Amino acid sequence: MRRYSRITGTGSYVPPRRLSNADLVAQLAATGVETSDEWIVERTGIRARHFVDDGVYSSDLALEACKGALQAAGLEAKDIDLIIVATSTPDMVFPSTACILQNKLGANGGAAFDMQAVCSGFVYALSVADAMIQTGAATKALVVGAEVFSRLLDFNDRTTCVLFGDGAGAVVLEASETPGILASDLHADGKHVGILCVPGHVANGHILGDPLLKMDGQAVFKLAVGVLESAARATLAKAGKTEADIDWLIPHQANIRIMQSTAKKLKLPMDKVVVTVDQHGNTSAASIPLALDAAVRAGQVKPGQTLMLEGVGGGFTWGAVLLTL
Ligand code: ACO
Repeated sequence: MRRYSRITGTGSYVPPRRLSNADLVAQLAATGVETSDEWIVERTGIRARHFVDDGVYSSDLALEACKGALQAAGLEAKDIDLIIVATSTPDMVFPSTACILQNKLGANGGAAFDMQAVCSGFVYALSVADAMIQTGAATKALVVGAEVFSRLLDFNDRTTCVLFGDGAGAVVLEASETPGILASDLHADGKHVGILCVPGHVANGHILGDPLLKMDGQAVFKLAVGVLESAARATLAKAGKTEADIDWLIPHQANIRIMQSTAKKLKLPMDKVVVTVDQHGNTSAASIPLALDAAVRAGQVKPGQTLMLEGVGGGFTWGAVLLTL
């Protein structure tokens, strides 16, 4: 009998420090950086974001998200034999945030590693976990997106610092006799490295280069809309489905205008799109599982429905996963 994978629980966590646009505008004004609630809402749809306090790391946010996902799945940490953490803001250079999380959870012994695909990290991680479960390499996985992007922001650059937030989301993915994950489609094009990057690195005890986020917003915008449409279409084709089969589109939560354009290209009304970017900002690899968990807990997304998850981000990377919840 064919072995599939299925999401059996979701969880998420945002740090308690919430900054509305007004809070951020006031904070930036104190250092001479001019922006406004109107500009941020009109160009991005973002109204608030959460930032961690000093001493809080991606693994801390991931831990809380995983506790929620495990509880929803009716499992204990010791049942887990695979942890994949999608993050671009790891706790340390090494070891992986997944290993640090594994120890905090008390899930020691299974495989654990990080996935680095920036904002596409969660769909990459989900696709890899699905493949490992299908082959029998794992049975019960925690797939996590966790980020502290506030640590990468240049608060003198108003074109980027208003866009991002911190948070984590997680799913439990288990072996199943019925699908679950129906199809996935992953891509990257490394020639676009420069349009969205944090170019610094650690060498000989120093940070060399610039360790703050750089983005060509318009280049990212144009590429994102095109690849989100093509990835969705390729994934539907692999699964033998059409747009009409999608109950919910859960795209990477970067910008409401990218989501609206993608929905339009896929001929989906906005009331089939899960939107949390207004409350969380862009939380990179955490955004899709955060949105998924919020929609599940709100009773919006229900078991048995067909979901299209889509990520796009630095690399340039993009991908989609179609699944039945
Ligand atoms: N407040 C006020 N004004 C601003 C701000 C700000 N925070 N930021 C830029 N502006 C100004 C600019 O200086 C410019 O002024 P000018 O016309 O006098 O020169 C004006 O606003 C327009 O700037 P644009 O860059 O043309 O604005 P645009 O409409 O392209 O919106 C944005 C910028 C929101 C960044 C948009 O390009 C975008 O959303 N791009 C995609 C970014 C994204 O989603 N990245 C993440 C995806 S991948 C990942 O998640 C890592």
